Amino acid sequence: MKNLGILLSGRGSNFEAIAANVSAGRIPDAQIVVVISNKPDAGGLETARRLGLTTLVIPSKGKEREAHDHEVVAALNKHKVDLVCLAGYMRLLSPWFVQQFPHRILNIHPSLLPAFPGLEAQEQAYAYGVRVAGCTVHFVDEELDHGAIIVQKAIPVLDSDDEHTLSARILEQEHIAYSEAINIVLSGKYEVVGRKLMMNARAR
Ligand code: GRF
Repeated sequence: MKNLGILLSGRGSNFEAIAANVSAGRIPDAQIVVVISNKPDAGGLETARRLGLTTLVIPSKGKEREAHDHEVVAALNKHKVDLVCLAGYMRLLSPWFVQQFPHRILNIHPSLLPAFPGLEAQEQAYAYGVRVAGCTVHFVDEELDHGAIIVQKAIPVLDSDDEHTLSARILEQEHIAYSEAINIVLSGKYEVVGRKLMMNARAR
């Protein structure tokens, strides 16, 4: 059984999609052992409580990044987390945090990286006039929205789109992509060579 730890700061729809897939057996042999928010009012916490999951609030406000990260890592270790899933976690991880979980932290970003890293990626893409948008699930490294890519999903931008409809269709894809990426990582059937995820690697 693999233990997933979720970090979030807001609405938590990606977390909810992961939780639904875990419950339905679509992410086999895995369980969500803890949901941690740095924001006490994150909607995702409510969902987690409703689902009967263990929740923790570890406020980040006014704390030094590393001091906060030490608290979060201690909680992840206490709950024996194997894989950390950032799901709308609005906080940069310190290099120290990243080093505690090598190739065991995933993030989802609402653009086809390396295009439009950072905040409001969907709005950036829409304003730029891209014809194809999408989302990326990637390993977290020490740079923002940067680590090796695990899954990407692309969708066309329609003439009828505005940034809201585009964001909504990207989000639908996010909810599919994240669980796919978790399954790839948990399967162990890949190797990361440089930046490239090689899917035909032997099982580790
Ligand atoms: C998503 O768009 C995700 O790609 C980004 O933050 C948003 C979180 O949404 N990292 P939710 O909290 O999962 O609904």
